[in-house]
Amino acid sequence: MRNKPIALCGFMGCGKSSVGRALAKILGYKFIDSDSYIEEKYGMTIPEIFEAKGEDYFRDIEHEAIKELSLDTNTVIATGGGVVTFERNTKILKENTFLVMIDVCLPAIQERLKFSHNRPLIEGPDKAEKVKQLYNKRLPIYKRAADYIVDGNTTPKSVANRIIDTIKPEM
Ligand code: S3P
Repeated sequence: MRNKPIALCGFMGCGKSSVGRALAKILGYKFIDSDSYIEEKYGMTIPEIFEAKGEDYFRDIEHEAIKELSLDTNTVIATGGGVVTFERNTKILKENTFLVMIDVCLPAIQERLKFSHNRPLIEGPDKAEKVKQLYNKRLPIYKRAADYIVDGNTTPKSVANRIIDTIKPEM
């Protein structure tokens, strides 16, 4: 059975990778994280790419990655937090995947990102404030883009099961 991919979107730290892994395991799907895919393909970490080539370059290669990954089948794709803030990516994901947003409240996101050091957009002394600004700006965009919004304020396994109950994919 060739099922279209399930793509997970949402803010940094919302659990796209941990939920994605749990979901893929239950369904027997492949799991791919778009950031890891890019890091492997280009032999650089995301912060190194931002530092050496800039954000615009990163967004272009991220777009190429989304194009490639969305054509796969029986796959769970964890998208980077900025992916669906670009219409060109959302269009592709809506056409080729089932797009799920993982919705986690701001205080939990701030807590989870407190000790993150690999996310260039939120680096700096007042990380919590940066996260708040970006979160408030992006939340409506994620919600508008998604085919389905799942409450992510619980364990990865239960979020994964809720997604399965909604999509009812062939296993
Ligand atoms: C970004 C999120 C990151 C990564 C990059 C930019 C963003 O991915 O793609 O640092 O714009 O929100 P995660 O959401 O996996 O942290």
